[in-house]
Amino acid sequence: MDKIFSSNTIRNYLYSSFFNKPINYQVSLIDKKEAYYRKRVFILEKKIVKGCFVQDIGNFEIINTIHKFYKDKNILDVCAAPGGKSILLNSLGYNVIAIDKSQNQIKKFAENLKRLNIKINIQKIDFLKSKFNSKYNSILLDAPCSALGTFRRNPDVTVKIEQSQMKKHQKTQLQMVEKSLKILNDNGFLVYIVCSFHPFETIEVIDKIMQKHKNIRLHDISSNKMIKRHNGYFINPLSFKELGGSDVFFVSVLEKMKK
Ligand SMILES: C[S@@+](CC[C@H](N)C(=O)[O-])C[C@H]1O[C@@H](n2cnc3c(N)ncnc32)[C@H](O)[C@@H]1O
Repeated sequence: MDKIFSSNTIRNYLYSSFFNKPINYQVSLIDKKEAYYRKRVFILEKKIVKGCFVQDIGNFEIINTIHKFYKDKNILDVCAAPGGKSILLNSLGYNVIAIDKSQNQIKKFAENLKRLNIKINIQKIDFLKSKFNSKYNSILLDAPCSALGTFRRNPDVTVKIEQSQMKKHQKTQLQMVEKSLKILNDNGFLVYIVCSFHPFETIEVIDKIMQKHKNIRLHDISSNKMIKRHNGYFINPLSFKELGGSDVFFVSVLEKMKK
C-alpha cells in the first residue's frame, strides 16, 4: 500500500495526467528588473542563485501584502522555521525575533541565514509553554497545520488526513492565537496564516476567536490575488495561472483594540 500511495508515485501520476508540475520560485534579496513577479520573484531552475531563497509565489504574495499592517518594525515570528517568512520580512526592513520549537527546522533556518549572510535572532522555544515578559505590537503566527494547501507538491496529504487530526490542529491553532493575543499590545497587529483551505483550520479558528474576544477588529487586505471568505482571505491559485499556479494559503489580519 505504502508503495502505491507514496507521495512520489501519486505526484508523478498527477503530473503526467491532471496538472503540470508546480514551478518553484526563488526570491531575490536585491530588486531586479528581470524578475518574474513583483520585481523580486524568479523561477528556480537547477540551482538557487546567490542572494535568493526559495518560496512559493503565494507565500511571497501574502507577506508582501500584509507587512504594511505592521506599524512596529519589531516583529515576533512565533513559528518561524525554516524561515521563509522571517527572511522576507527581514529583507523588507523589519527586525524579526524568530522562535520555533523544532531543532531540525531551526537547523534549516540557520543554514539559510548563513548562505544568505543575514542575521536573524532565532531561538528554540515552545511558544505554548514559554513565559513572555514583554508584549509586542507586531506578531506573525504561521501556525502548524495539515498543509492541505500544498496538495500540488504533496498530493497524498489529501488522502492521509483524518478528521481527528484536523481537530487537533484546530486546538493547537486556537491555543496559539490565544497566546499571541495575550502578548499583543493594544492596537497591535496579529497576522494568522496557515497553508490550508480546510474550514477547521481557517475560518472556524477566526470565528471562535471573534466570538470570544469582542475587542478584535479584522482588517481588509488589498490583493487581487486573494479571495475574501467571511473572516479571512485565501490565495487564489488561479490568479497565478500564467506562472504555474500557487499553493493555497489562508490569512487573516487581527487588530487588538483597547477593551
Ligand atoms: C508552517 S511551519 C512555519 C513555516 C515558516 N513560518 C516559514 O515561512 O518558513 C510551522 C512551524 O511551527 C513550528 N511549531 C509547531 N508548534 C510550535 C510551538 N508550540 N512553538 C513554536 N513553534 C512551533 C514547527 O516546528 C514548524 O516549523
